Amino acid sequence: MSEKTPIMADGLPQALIHLFDDYEILQWDTADGAEALERAHALVSYGHPGADGALMDRMPNLKVISNHGVGVDHIDVAAATERNVPVGNTPGCLNASTADMTFALLMAAARNIVIGDHFARGPEFTHYDPSLMIGKEVTGSTLGIVGMGRIGREVAKRAAGFDMQVLYHNRSRDEAAEDELGVSYRTLEELLAESDFVALNCPLTPETTGMIGAAELERMKSDAILVNMARGGVVDTDALYDALVNKQIAIAALDVTEPEPLPRGHRLLELDNLVIAPHLGSASDRTRQKMMEMTIENLVAGLAGDPLPYQVRSN
Ligand code: DGY
Repeated sequence: MSEKTPIMADGLPQALIHLFDDYEILQWDTADGAEALERAHALVSYGHPGADGALMDRMPNLKVISNHGVGVDHIDVAAATERNVPVGNTPGCLNASTADMTFALLMAAARNIVIGDHFARGPEFTHYDPSLMIGKEVTGSTLGIVGMGRIGREVAKRAAGFDMQVLYHNRSRDEAAEDELGVSYRTLEELLAESDFVALNCPLTPETTGMIGAAELERMKSDAILVNMARGGVVDTDALYDALVNKQIAIAALDVTEPEPLPRGHRLLELDNLVIAPHLGSASDRTRQKMMEMTIENLVAGLAGDPLPYQVRSN
């Protein structure tokens, strides 16, 4: 039997797996195996599948849940707290990469990068045509950011480089952000009606689940572009499909969906006014490395019974 501390882990990037050499890694897909659950001293999680109280109750040695990501909507933090199991995440390190990706999707949608790429590779591209794929100008447009947290702020900074007017909606008004970044608060309804681009950068919570549904999509401009970098559950998938088919909005650019991934052959995937990425918000080299390092810091502290450096508090 290995003398390394056994941990249950899921989704560790192969290129960085050596960082966990001090541990015996029990694959999460054995989670139904009672023996693995009983032996594991930690859960190293990133979103799939969820960790609820029932799972925790099957893990008598569980000392810490270390999530390698910032979003913890898949972990029942209250259930962990009740069981004296601290939950850690990786805040901060992915703000820039997720904001970069918000802009990557925004630009891709606005300037027809994906359909342009396919066209430019195909037989139909025989000559330059000035009437081809006229996109939406980003510079000088109005961007509405839903969720003026750490990532939202980074998105606002990037928008300043594009001379955009930036509106934001948040649970509460953030006057510091207004002063520092020149952003203006709007109600959600106002933001949706005024924005050329709407970027969702909020966490998934009971308040934000289904926040963008049919009524909200109807409020948006018919040439607006919606970028979802939050979680799929923030947007009502069926309502989004209808809004795209009926051209209530111009384009959706999604890094996340509900469900995720969408079942192959899903009707949303047939639409050409959709740009979609496979949850790449934090997927950059330096960010992944930092996320894993923070995950290990939380893991080491939790296994030692010390306070976690990046602990998630139960609301
Ligand atoms: C996060 O950190 O929550 C990102 O979505 C990556 O999982």
